[in-house]
This record gives sequence, C-alpha cells and structure tokens, in this order.
Amino acid sequence: MQDYHEYLDEILVTEEALQKRIAELGREISRDYQDKCLHLICILRGGVLFLTDLMRHITVPNTIDFMAVSSYGTHRQSTGQVRITLDLKDDIHDRHVLLVEDIVDSGYTIASVLEFLETRHPKTLKVCTLLDKPQRREVKVPIHYRGFLIPNKFVFGYGLDMDEYHRNLPFIATVNLDHYRPAGKGEEDQSD
Ligand code: IMP
Ligand code: MG
Repeated sequence: MQDYHEYLDEILVTEEALQKRIAELGREISRDYQDKCLHLICILRGGVLFLTDLMRHITVPNTIDFMAVSSYGTHRQSTGQVRITLDLKDDIHDRHVLLVEDIVDSGYTIASVLEFLETRHPKTLKVCTLLDKPQRREVKVPIHYRGFLIPNKFVFGYGLDMDEYHRNLPFIATVNLDHYRPAGKGEEDQSD
C-alpha cells in the first residue's frame, strides 16, 4: 500500500477551515428551517463525514437517512448513467428534505438523485454539498448550500476516496496523479 504522502500534492482545505465552514452551514440551515423538521439524506459513502459533522450544528429537529448510488464509468470520470444501489428506509412524502453530498463534479449524480426523489413528492427538496467543482459541470443542478468552490483537480480526504482509501483524513487534499500507483482495481463500476 503506497503511502499517500507520496502523491499528496497540497492540502486544499485544512481541518480547521472545514470545521469552521461546516459550523457556519449548520447555523445557516438551522435559521432557514426554523420551526420545521428537517430530513437529511446522505449519499453513501462520500458524504458520511460531512453529514455527521454538519448535523452536530443543526439545531432544528432532524432525522437522517441514507442512499447509495453507483455511476458507470472509469475511475474519476462518471458517464452520466447513475443507478440506485441502496434505497431510502423512510418515506419522504411531504417532508422537508435536504440532500447532503460530498462533491458536485459533473452534476450527473445529484441530477439523477433529485429526479428520483422528486417522484416521491417531498414538501421541499434542497441540496447541500461540501465541495463544488463548477468547471467540470455537464448538467445544471441547483445547489442551495455550498461549503467550498474548488478548482478542477481530483481531491481526497474527509469522505472522498482515492480508490476507496483515505476517506478518514480530516482534511481535503489534491493528488499528484504522476506520483500515484493504482493497486489494480477494476474500472467498470465505481461506487460513490
Ligand atoms: P458527479 O456525478 O460527476 O457530480 O460526481 C459525483 C461523485 O463523483 C461524488 O459523489 C464523488 O464520489 C465522485 N467524485 C467526483 N470528484 C471527485 C474527487 O475529486 N475526488 C473523489 N471523488 C470524486
Ligand atoms: Mg468516489
């Protein structure tokens, strides 16, 4: 297993900056949903760290649920075809739903998930993403809460994976792909 320090290019968002911004987002969301109950939906697996930190700063009554999607395509490049691999446990009809995502890149994942959730008629449906890479956008998606705008670079840490590893790092780092030696994983079906 290659040491990630060998291909870590730079720390793009430090642990302190992440935690400060997440606290701000939590306060903003709490103000916006005042007197309402909020249902947070996290997309596995990348959004998990963000959800658990964000919800600690949400002061309105809230519930959580999870779903998982898989995008067809090669490593680090989605093709637009997204398939639901884990459905929600709870009904979202007539509820205030906030989708919590790690990153919006091409936009295909969020666009498909929103379309899927709309069919179940939530009362409101909004998107909160920790990271936004607008230069890579291929489909227009609404983003109501955004942690950080980032440049068009592949990142890992804080939920985001480098071929499934390093989701536990407390910061977001960019990768130098010239220095990265993949472990030889299949490329057909990339889970988020
Ligand atoms: P989209 O469908 O292209 O918007 O991609 C969304 C998904 O691709 C995210 O939920 C991530 O799992 C993954 N992804 C996109 N960019 C990155 C990155 O820079 N690092 C790690 N995962 C990424
Ligand atoms: Mg991923």
